Amino acid sequence: MTAGPGAGDAMFDNEDMAANLAPEVDVPTAGVVDVAAIDPALVDPEAVAEAVAPQREIETAEGQALLKTEGLTVRFGGLVALDDVSFEIRRGEILGLIGPNGAGKTTCFNAITGVYKPSAGRVMFDGEPLAKTKRNEITRLGIARTFQNIRLFGEMTALENVVVGTDARHRTSVPGAIFRTRRHRREERDAVARGMALLEFVGIAPRAVEKAKNLSYGDQRRLEIARALATEPKLLCLDEPAAGFNPSEKSALMDLIRKIRDDGFTVLLIEHDMRLVMGVTDRIVVLEFGKKIADDLPAAIRENPAVIAAYLGVPDDAIA
Ligand SMILES: Nc1ncnc2c1ncn2[C@@H]1O[C@H](COP(=O)(O)OP(=O)(O)OP(=O)(O)O)[C@@H](O)[C@H]1O
Ligand SMILES: [Mg+2]
Repeated sequence: MTAGPGAGDAMFDNEDMAANLAPEVDVPTAGVVDVAAIDPALVDPEAVAEAVAPQREIETAEGQALLKTEGLTVRFGGLVALDDVSFEIRRGEILGLIGPNGAGKTTCFNAITGVYKPSAGRVMFDGEPLAKTKRNEITRLGIARTFQNIRLFGEMTALENVVVGTDARHRTSVPGAIFRTRRHRREERDAVARGMALLEFVGIAPRAVEKAKNLSYGDQRRLEIARALATEPKLLCLDEPAAGFNPSEKSALMDLIRKIRDDGFTVLLIEHDMRLVMGVTDRIVVLEFGKKIADDLPAAIRENPAVIAAYLGVPDDAIA
């Protein structure tokens, strides 16, 4: 599906959005969800991919800068956590952000997503400076993230956690919600259908009505990604999504990250596992002590003496 004329920012403006999904998705309240039984379209990967990313934009703009940091600097008292860092993220790419512990990777995410205001420099997103933009506005503009330490609503179900994410885009006013206007009911219904599609997309739809706290660690990480995607970001920032994963979980996660990009999202990935980073990214930016020390293709990063030096102490096979 392409975004036609008049397709606005809000996902529910586009009536075709979930056209292939059932209009009423009746999700049971407990147990393992039989995904095909509640909506056969949910087992069609194409229909699911379209519901997850109804307005793909990358095809025409692929390769252009989506986000740029210009001299980005973040100080905490005397500590310079991020020191004059400039790089760009191009539409449709998977950019790796790597570096030793304390290098400033998460601080960079926090500066991009409005958690920290830069001490100097700026972030440009889609051609606009984010200087005074509030966090929820940054979400609306199209930047979503996951956290190094999982942050979910543990007592809420997986589906509810995702529907909360889609709420960031709802258009109904509070009175609309109270009086349950038609638009509000439609938004609710669409949010559930899209929530199920998101859970299917990341591979955990059968667990939709399980409380988040009861999901396995790996499924919680996937749920975090689904919740971030629910806000329909242009840019998805993943902070060590594979932390604590075994090799087969890591390889499944690489597949998911590629699928996310192929569905039209741009991805910024912080990850320590060199095999994963080398295997999935298009380009890599390397930080050390808050400074950018390299910015190149994965193959060149692997050979870069400064990068190898920064990673001394890491076993050779983790770099090679
Ligand atoms: N809110 C804060 N207040 C003070 N210092 C901070 C704060 N956040 C981060 N730092 C410091 O800034 C530096 C960079 O931290 P950051 O969390 O960005 O590193 P990182 O590259 O994400 O590391 P890791 O790989 O361990 O997650 C560290 O020295 C850290 O202690
Ligand atoms: Mg970090």
